[in-house]
Amino acid sequence: MVDLRQRGTALSDKAFAEQHVVVTGGGTGIGRAAALAFAEQGAASVTITGRRSEPLDEVAALHPAVIPVVADVASEAGVDAIAAAVQARGGKLDVLVHNAGVFGLTPLDELDPADVRHQFEVNVFGPILLTAKLLPLLRSPGGNIVVVSSISARLTTPAQSVYAASKAAVDSLIRSWAVELGPKGIRVNGVAPGNVRTPILTSGGISDQDVAAWRSGYAGKAPTGRIGEVADVTPWITRLAEPTSSWISGEIIVVDGGMLAT
Ligand SMILES: NC(=O)c1ccc[n+]([C@@H]2O[C@H](COP(=O)([O-])OP(=O)(O)OC[C@H]3O[C@@H](n4cnc5c(N)ncnc54)[C@H](OP(=O)(O)O)[C@@H]3O)[C@@H](O)[C@H]2O)c1
Repeated sequence: MVDLRQRGTALSDKAFAEQHVVVTGGGTGIGRAAALAFAEQGAASVTITGRRSEPLDEVAALHPAVIPVVADVASEAGVDAIAAAVQARGGKLDVLVHNAGVFGLTPLDELDPADVRHQFEVNVFGPILLTAKLLPLLRSPGGNIVVVSSISARLTTPAQSVYAASKAAVDSLIRSWAVELGPKGIRVNGVAPGNVRTPILTSGGISDQDVAAWRSGYAGKAPTGRIGEVADVTPWITRLAEPTSSWISGEIIVVDGGMLAT
């Protein structure tokens, strides 16, 4: 029998040789793991962005291809700084990963408009702004955009409507951009994770006790019996950007331990 996993690994070896990659939110969680995966698979440069310098510098210390850029993706100044960093390396971009994201509870009876605005600014406005800014630099034909969405886009969870709506908007962007950028030879795809062990819930103000309860509830319901780890998600981000996926565009791969099937 053919071992597809082994064959995939062999095909993926140094798949990104001489390529230039940008991963937003690359200092922690899924973005950190994705950035290191691109670097380990031969990328010439992996520019990682975030608002805090410490996590970015820590990741950059792990691989010489990783370049940290402190930049808020929800601001025009931040997007300009990312474009300037790409220009400084010759102005070439092969893969753009929109991974930066924020989560927060938004119960309608205690709504904080600033939180609503913030989630949409980071999760939706940021990728739109950055895609438009970097498009002239993105290899055409042959460039790739991968957006990290969420299964929340397809779920109905009390107090999470704003986060879910922001990710539903992301799903819509993925499909529309795939059609809009297809004629330029640029593919656009997404990955929609379920509950993955990263700092995002704690950063979003969820107590440690609630995070633990959500994780055990998820593990108890998901067919695979556990929450996800970043290593469950990142191979799909890199895989979608590989030439071996050249006939996939406008797709959103669900990586959720089977939760959506329940
Ligand atoms: N973990 C999950 O269960 C899960 C499930 C589904 C989808 N996702 C999605 O996966 C993506 C990555 O999240 P994660 O789980 O890996 O959590 P994470 O570790 O908290 O990563 C989020 C990253 O985004 C960065 N970020 C936030 N706001 C930013 C801004 N305005 N400008 C630039 N960077 C910003 C953060 O860095 P700074 O704070 O330094 O800016 C951080 O590195 C997000 O899009 C999230 O919605 C996560």
